[in-house]
Amino acid sequence: MAYWDDKVALVTGAASGIGQATVWRLVNEGASVIALDRNRDGLERTRAEVANDERLMALTVDLRDETGVINAVEQAAKWKGRVDGAVNVAGISPAEELLDSTREDWDELLDINLRGTFLVAREAARVMAGGEGGAIVNVSSVLALVGDPTLVSYSATKGGISAMTRAMAVRLGPQRIRVNAVCPGDVATPLLNNWIEQQSDPAATRAKIASSYPLGYYCEPADIAGVILFLLGPDARCITGANLVVDCGLTVKCY
Ligand SMILES: NC(=O)c1ccc[n+]([C@@H]2O[C@H](COP(=O)([O-])OP(=O)(O)OC[C@H]3O[C@@H](n4cnc5c(N)ncnc54)[C@H](O)[C@@H]3O)[C@@H](O)[C@H]2O)c1
Repeated sequence: MAYWDDKVALVTGAASGIGQATVWRLVNEGASVIALDRNRDGLERTRAEVANDERLMALTVDLRDETGVINAVEQAAKWKGRVDGAVNVAGISPAEELLDSTREDWDELLDINLRGTFLVAREAARVMAGGEGGAIVNVSSVLALVGDPTLVSYSATKGGISAMTRAMAVRLGPQRIRVNAVCPGDVATPLLNNWIEQQSDPAATRAKIASSYPLGYYCEPADIAGVILFLLGPDARCITGANLVVDCGLTVKCY
């Protein structure tokens, strides 16, 4: 028997990186997954990767569209008759120079990262509250905890997700809905890998990033997917409101 047999989860940001790895892992652990993303082509790549049409439904939705989110979660709930888990992975992280940033930049980050996470969690909680409860996992970041001068607005969204996670956990506990967050450091997703490949010496750049981590390496998307699976499943039945740092020791390092 697999860790999460016969469960049903929806995953946002499912067309790439951590979201795609999470879909793959959940299906391989026995779950059926509704994969949400605004990137239709990316969702097709996820579908090809998973190669299990019975246990994967892909829905194209932009999280900035509240009606679209409400309809997508409703469709997800109808598919197998219930939703046991919701994983909020979708997000953007554009580099930003604070003094040149605009209100439009801020609004876009807040709309996608924070409001998008809120809307999906709220809609999923409505479904779960009418059933047997469930689990929500939000992907935050170590930047909810420490400062990066090039990602000020992004950090605000992640701080908001971490705080919202705690409050939702308290609100939804009586409905048997657990709400947790994962706070990753660097993860080797396409965004980071492509940036590394563009540097004059990619191998040296990769080694330099890795050397800043006490463990001497940083996470792969599958590492984050594994922690998400743990938080969704029965081994985490006593964990709610947690912000689990998954950063190979980055934020506990003093020197
Ligand atoms: N990669 C890292 O180093 C890292 C570190 C800490 C936290 N995170 C967080 O992990 C999450 C995933 O990161 P990733 O590196 O896998 O990113 P990614 O860019 O590979 O994937 C993000 C996905 O979100 C989707 N998305 C973006 N805006 C959307 C919208 N409005 N509606 C629907 N879908 C939308 C994109 O299409 C994409 O498929 C993000 O929330 C990010 O902030 C990433």
